Amino acid sequence: MGVDHLDLPSPGGLAGCRAEFPALGLQIAGREAAFLDGPAGTQVPRRVVEAMSHYLYWQNANTHGIFLTSRATDALVERARGRGAALLGAVSPDEIAFGYNTTTLLFRLARMIGRDLGRGDEVVITELDHEANRAPWLALRDQGVVVREARVDIETCQIDLGDLAAKTGRRTRVVAVGGASNAVGTVNDLPVIRDIARAAGALLVVDAVHYVPHVPVDVQALGPDYLVCSAYKFFGPHLGVLYGRREAFERLRCYKVEPQLDTIPDRIETGTHSFEAIAGTAAAVEWLAGLGGSAEPELSDGPALRREVLAGMRAIEDYEAGLAERLRDGLAAVPGVRVYGPPPGAARTPTVSFAMHGRLAGEVTAALAAAGIFAWDGDFYATTLVRRLGLEERGGLVRLGLAPYNTVAEVERAIETVASLA
Ligand SMILES: Cc1ncc(COP(=O)(O)O)c(C=O)c1O
Repeated sequence: MGVDHLDLPSPGGLAGCRAEFPALGLQIAGREAAFLDGPAGTQVPRRVVEAMSHYLYWQNANTHGIFLTSRATDALVERARGRGAALLGAVSPDEIAFGYNTTTLLFRLARMIGRDLGRGDEVVITELDHEANRAPWLALRDQGVVVREARVDIETCQIDLGDLAAKTGRRTRVVAVGGASNAVGTVNDLPVIRDIARAAGALLVVDAVHYVPHVPVDVQALGPDYLVCSAYKFFGPHLGVLYGRREAFERLRCYKVEPQLDTIPDRIETGTHSFEAIAGTAAAVEWLAGLGGSAEPELSDGPALRREVLAGMRAIEDYEAGLAERLRDGLAAVPGVRVYGPPPGAARTPTVSFAMHGRLAGEVTAALAAAGIFAWDGDFYATTLVRRLGLEERGGLVRLGLAPYNTVAEVERAIETVASLA
């Protein structure tokens, strides 16, 4: 299938999108660098960097003071919670809390939920997940909680839902799953998993770090109790975002210092935030709304902003799907390459991972780096999956991840470079 027609529907199209990312102009030995490292963190558009520097230059203060900059900081945090709600489809900005990153938020969440768990209680995790959504729950074994692991089908890189259902029962208090696999791009069947968790009366916690950058999210339809993501994967700075259904947030027995506000979401959060990162995260959501056609996304709010963000995410999803198909087909045709991930037709993100016969994964990424193509090798902290795939000895997987600023030419260059190693 031809992919030359691929473009973004936003004003300025792909070229306009790329122009907002100064980093894309980086030259390596006379060629533009190709950033295929998005699953580990995307590049950042000007709007985001400008929002962060604006905050630090003009509004830098702590919260809840009577003076101008402190009030501006309060307003910023409120606005950013609204932006987070628009991104995820939350009912209210109060359902959005911020934290250092997803791993820290999940350890904190598991610790708080774990206060009410003990012997006889069970948690279900999966073999497909990033360790950030495994280790915090596995740590609850110290207090007698039984942690069960739903198997991954190593042929399809999908969670064995039958196994997950069998391991979820009367004693299950939490089902913790990913939205999508950062290692192989599998998109999990969240509605089915939600129904399994609900039938058992368990909480559903979703690690959506690899999901949010690629799929329009609607937490009201998906129905998790908690969902976590990281802004640096969707064109923002390094910050974690935790959605909690209002009742779920209210039920949490938080660890907090006494003077911290006791209202949600403040009581979920600890210490002083990175307000500049919060400013950047709000701007990243506005950038997505701009991609959805909004001329002045900074002025949008409420349902209008939500519509624009959804349009932006749909544009990303469509564009990335076309590019990813070409990347997958091109790589699969290289002799000795095995692409891992769900079968054709199954839901997936534009993250394409493979192993190459006779080559360590690190040798392949070294060749790509020499050609100015940035890509990761290893297990990407999806350690259990890579072990189950039997790829540890081979240095794990080579992972090429696409973002809306990537081009057909970059994809072709990556395929050619891999083919030159065959
Ligand atoms: C699926 C997934 N979950 C969790 C994490 C951890 O996120 P953070 O670096 O914000 O702790 C990552 C990071 O790569 C990830 O891809």
